[in-house]
Amino acid sequence: MAVSVKNNVFSLETQNTLYQMKADEFGVLCHLWYGAKTDCCMDYLLDYPDVGFSGSPYDAGNRRTYSLDTLPLEYAGSGAGDFRIPAVSLTHGDGSMALDLRFQEYRLGKGKYSIPGLPAVYAGEEEAQTLEIVLKDVASKVQVVLKYGVLEAADVITRSAVIINHGKDAVILNRVHSLCLDIPGGDWEWVHFHGRHNMERQAERMPLIHGIQESASTRGTSSHQQNPAVLLCEKTCTEQTGFCVGVALMYSGSFQAQVERDQLNQVRLVMGIHPATFSWKLASGESFYAPEVILSCSDRGTALLSQRFHHVIRHHVCRGKYALSSRPVLINNWEATYFHFDEQKILEIAGQASKLGIDMMVLDDGWFGERDTDCSGLGDWFVNENKLKDGLQGLIGRINAMGMKFGLWFEPEAVSEESRLYREHPEWAVQIPGRKPVRGRYQLMLDLSNPQVVDYLYHVLRKILGENHIEYVKWDMNRSICDWYTAALPGDRQGEMPHRYILGLYELLERLNRDFPEVLFEGCSGGGGRFDAGMLYYCPQIWCSDDTDAHERTFIQYGTSFFYPVSAVGSHVSAVPNHQTGRSASLKTRGIVAMAGSFGYELDLNCLTEEEKEEVSEQVRRYRGYQELIYNGNYYRLSNPFADGMAAWAWVSADRKQVLVQGVVFRAAPNTLRRRLRLTGLDGQAEYKAADSGQIYTGAALMTGGILLPWLSGDDAAFEMYLTMA
Ligand code: DGJ
Repeated sequence: MAVSVKNNVFSLETQNTLYQMKADEFGVLCHLWYGAKTDCCMDYLLDYPDVGFSGSPYDAGNRRTYSLDTLPLEYAGSGAGDFRIPAVSLTHGDGSMALDLRFQEYRLGKGKYSIPGLPAVYAGEEEAQTLEIVLKDVASKVQVVLKYGVLEAADVITRSAVIINHGKDAVILNRVHSLCLDIPGGDWEWVHFHGRHNMERQAERMPLIHGIQESASTRGTSSHQQNPAVLLCEKTCTEQTGFCVGVALMYSGSFQAQVERDQLNQVRLVMGIHPATFSWKLASGESFYAPEVILSCSDRGTALLSQRFHHVIRHHVCRGKYALSSRPVLINNWEATYFHFDEQKILEIAGQASKLGIDMMVLDDGWFGERDTDCSGLGDWFVNENKLKDGLQGLIGRINAMGMKFGLWFEPEAVSEESRLYREHPEWAVQIPGRKPVRGRYQLMLDLSNPQVVDYLYHVLRKILGENHIEYVKWDMNRSICDWYTAALPGDRQGEMPHRYILGLYELLERLNRDFPEVLFEGCSGGGGRFDAGMLYYCPQIWCSDDTDAHERTFIQYGTSFFYPVSAVGSHVSAVPNHQTGRSASLKTRGIVAMAGSFGYELDLNCLTEEEKEEVSEQVRRYRGYQELIYNGNYYRLSNPFADGMAAWAWVSADRKQVLVQGVVFRAAPNTLRRRLRLTGLDGQAEYKAADSGQIYTGAALMTGGILLPWLSGDDAAFEMYLTMA
């Protein structure tokens, strides 16, 4: 059994890890352990120091060393003697704010729990167990139900919390985190992923300082600027060695991850909806469901941790036809035409693409309403007949006749003031009466916290997808959200709107996923501004970044790879000089970098020379040959692009018989030795043969001595090596 309970000690065991907690003699739920299996009750690690100004609960009597302020707590309440970051805080009907959570009962069940209205890891009855631990604040009768999903084979634990108001007065929830994880003192560092538009998920590893550090978004989206996934690792932890814990929040709105190193050097990590744009009125009898967080840990470095996240996201988060299957190689017209195209132009691009073996034409922004610039048209989801004279059906028919699938861009959540929709329904736009709204890319957002708006969008999209042979949808969203106000809620509930917006978005995506199970939904938010495990539940791939520059992409894709599988990463070859940076990488480099993702093109192929076209068709063939390995193989980061002057990565098949190594060396240097690259994850005893040279190596040699990279010339020179077990 993955979960066992003995003397109020709860042990959650996966294949290689143990998560343990204990309800002690005062009913305080203490966190005991998250790490390698120990076959032991870890409560001997609990210590009771006599620390001044760390008070004791009344029921501890004269035990002055018993303090909530020093114990590792499983889910910290607030205002009741623990002065570290709370996991939950609320205001009672009388204005007081204390919440002293004590163990009440537990429930154990087969299978994995789901969460109403929110994405959650799914698993078969036999693949997972659910543990619920009920905590209660006795004075107010507010309950917190902690939910744990234990996916034994995947080495994953999920957590979530439900707040239930059994009291007679309403309470206001000020903060409900999904995760609270107290870990012992040590030389900890954390890795978070910061960035900006065109430069998402830059991995930054920092020591923990005393006090609080934070990775967060208040933008209404998970954001380009921070990502809702962080790692805690021992200072000595590397890709291959040492202990680390990873947590990824399944949520696409504003979030907060805070890590606190306390007075005793102990560490607390909390994560959940960002409290700055959240409050929730919970009437008597009502429940609030927090989003889910996915946890895994590894005592063999970050590579293994990443592989566990890749696996759980592919097999237990992404759903539908495309969760595990190969995706079509696509051509997208955005960087080829921007808003300036007509049917003829799109057919020319598609025609050339089909000759080169590309599977699908994606028509991006500009096909609808009066959308000739980004100042107008959003919300008017009917065809712009100046551009597409025979409508969508005419265009799609011609593209299908070329043997290609067709995909279409939408930005359903947004509205332009210059649009028919806005003229008819200005009250549906997110803005505060009496104030001028902030515009982002000239546009406003629609109020998805209003069920009427969600319904409207559902019917509009369902009609278009139902009437046309559309096999892919790019779901874009191009601004940060502020000016939170909704006419759909009374004044004292306005703080609920940002979360209700996300619930509305999820409901819309859920309904469309259900109605169109054959359609591949690709998420997008100005590239990777909403790249999170929540969106991956509805969209198995997400456009990774609007930056298509191959050099920059190696950094972005490096950071993305810590949590998210390669199959989730939309990645395209675009034209040079690159439109975002002006840099010119070779077609070979652009192809290799884009192959470390869900592969496609985003340029006018008609502008290429005959040799380049031949190279494109060879890339498509090569990618198809590797796709199974790229999607299902174990992914390894072989370098740190921030430190090593190159990016290198590899996939090793589960049976370790195939290895594909790719990478980019950033700067050319004269009179130099070739670089050596150490591979990992091979069978040390086996022999491997390099496909290009025919040379034979042992796995042990490749993992210790490494392999010599080919001679390379020029900046941003890519390499690729394919080896098979001899
Ligand atoms: C932002 C996306 O990330 C781009 O790929 C493109 O679809 C534009 N929006 C279109 O407006």
